[in-house]
Amino acid sequence: MKKVASSVVPVISIDRNGAKPVHRQIYDSYREAIMQGNLRPGQKIPSTRLFAVELGVSRYPVIEAYAQLVAEGYFESRVGAATIVSQNLPDRFTTAAPAHVKESLNSPSSRISARRTALVGQLRPSHWTRGLGAFGVGQVAYDQFPLQVWSRLVARRTRKMTVRSFHYGEQMGSIMLRQTVANYLRIARSVHCEPEQIMIVSGSQQAIAITARVLLDPGSSIWIEEPGYRFGADVFTLAGCNLVPVPVDKEGISVSEGIRRDRMARAALVTPSHQFPLGFTMSAARRLQLLTWAQDHGAWILEDDYDSEYRYESLPIPSLQGMDAHGRVIYIGTFSKVLFPSLRLGYLVIPKDLIEFFLKTRHAMDLAPPTFYQDVVADFIDEGHFERHIRRMRLLYRERRSLLVDSISEEFGEAVEIDGSEAGMHLVVSFKTSIDDRSVAERAGQQNLWVWPLTASYLKTPEKTGFILGFGSTASSDIPVAVRTLRKLVKEAPSRPIAI
Ligand SMILES: Cc1ncc(COP(=O)(O)O)c(C=O)c1O
Repeated sequence: MKKVASSVVPVISIDRNGAKPVHRQIYDSYREAIMQGNLRPGQKIPSTRLFAVELGVSRYPVIEAYAQLVAEGYFESRVGAATIVSQNLPDRFTTAAPAHVKESLNSPSSRISARRTALVGQLRPSHWTRGLGAFGVGQVAYDQFPLQVWSRLVARRTRKMTVRSFHYGEQMGSIMLRQTVANYLRIARSVHCEPEQIMIVSGSQQAIAITARVLLDPGSSIWIEEPGYRFGADVFTLAGCNLVPVPVDKEGISVSEGIRRDRMARAALVTPSHQFPLGFTMSAARRLQLLTWAQDHGAWILEDDYDSEYRYESLPIPSLQGMDAHGRVIYIGTFSKVLFPSLRLGYLVIPKDLIEFFLKTRHAMDLAPPTFYQDVVADFIDEGHFERHIRRMRLLYRERRSLLVDSISEEFGEAVEIDGSEAGMHLVVSFKTSIDDRSVAERAGQQNLWVWPLTASYLKTPEKTGFILGFGSTASSDIPVAVRTLRKLVKEAPSRPIAI
C-alpha cells in the first residue's frame, strides 16, 4: 500500500475549552480515523513534535495520546523509525465503510439527480480497451519512442522555466505550439488555418466534448458512423443527443442514407481519412455530398483526423476541412498516435466566427491547457524530431501490418476478410460466418491479447462480426504466435448467427 508521508497531519480539531482533555481529543480522533479507514495499516504518523506544532498545543498531551494508542495496539512505535498505524489491526477495523457510504452503494441511481448522469447507464463496458499486450487498438510502439531526445528537451524546458511558466497559460494553448501545429496542418494535411484558429486540447476526446457543448443541444440529432468510434459517440450520448447511426461503405459514410434517416441532423461525426474502424477513405464524391448537405442544412461536420500520418500504399489524403468553403467543418487532430496517448494533447481547428464560443466554453471547463508539455512538443516538432519519428514509425508499422496480414491469411484463410490495412495502426478482420466476437475478446484479454470485438463498434444491429486488431505496439516477432492463439480462441467459440 502507498504510504502517506509522515508530515501529512490528519485533520483533527481541538477545542481547548472543551470538557474533554486535549490528550483524549487527540486519542479519539486518531482512533476514529483508523476505524473509518481514513488511516490505513502501515501509514506513518507525524512525530509528536511536529503534530504538537501543527495543533498549536504543548507536546505533553500528544505524547500521552500516542502512548495510549500504542498501548491499545492502534499504533506501532519502532526504535529509530517513525510511528505507524499498526499492521496487525483486524480487517473489520480498517475496511468497514462508514454507514452512510454503505447505504449509498446499495442504490447509487437513487442519489443521482441529474437526468444527464442517468445516461451513463447507456454506455457499454469495454474491458478490451485496457490491457497492454498484443493487438491493443490505439497503442503505439512505445519502446521505439525517442526517449533520449525527449528527456533532453524536457530537461532544457525545465531549466528555462520562469515565473510565467508557473502561471495559467494561454486559454487557447501556447502560441508557439499553435503556430507549429498550424504550419504542420497546412503543409501535411491541406487544412486551411491560421494559428488563431488552433485550440490545444487534452486529446481528441476533449475536442469532441467541447464541440458538443458549443454546437449541440440535448435532443439534437447527430450522424454517427456505423460502425464507428465508440468513445466519440459516448460524448454525444451523455450530452443527451439523439445518435443516428449511418452506415459506412467503401466510400465512407453513406450521405444519402444519412439524409434518409435524419436530414435535419445538426452534425455528423466522421473519420474521412481513415474510417474508424473499417479503414476506408472517404471518396471525393462523398466528401462533396457531405459538405453540400452540411451547407444546405446549416449542419456541422466534426472531422476526426486521428491517424492520417500513417499511409502505406499512397500519399496522405488531404483533409475534408481543406475542401470546405463555408466554415462547416470542425477539424480535430491528436498527438496520441504520432507521439503517445498519455501525453493527452490534441487540437481543434475552429472556424473563425466560432472561436469566441469555443474559447468561453473551454474556459468554463478547464481554464487552459497545461503549458509545460505543449512547449516540449513544439520543440520536438520544430527541431525535426517529429517528422523523423513519423518516418521511422511508418516503416515499422508497415512491416508489422504486412506480417499481420500474412499471419491472418495463413491462419484463417478464406474464412475472413481483412479491411483497412492500407493505413493507420489497426485493421479489421471480419468473419464470413458470424462468431461471438465479444466473448472471444473477453477470453483473449485473459491471454493478454487485446482485440476489440467489431460488434462493439455498432450502435444498432451489427452487420459483421470480427475484430479490430491494433498492430502499433505488437512486436513483429509476437504477431504470428498471437494470431495463432486468436485462431484457437475463435475455434473454441460458439458461432452465433446475427440478425441483419
Ligand atoms: C477514431 C479515433 N479518434 C481519436 C482517437 C484518439 O483519441 P485521443 O486523442 O483522445 O487519445 C482514437 C484513438 O484510438 C481513435 O480511434
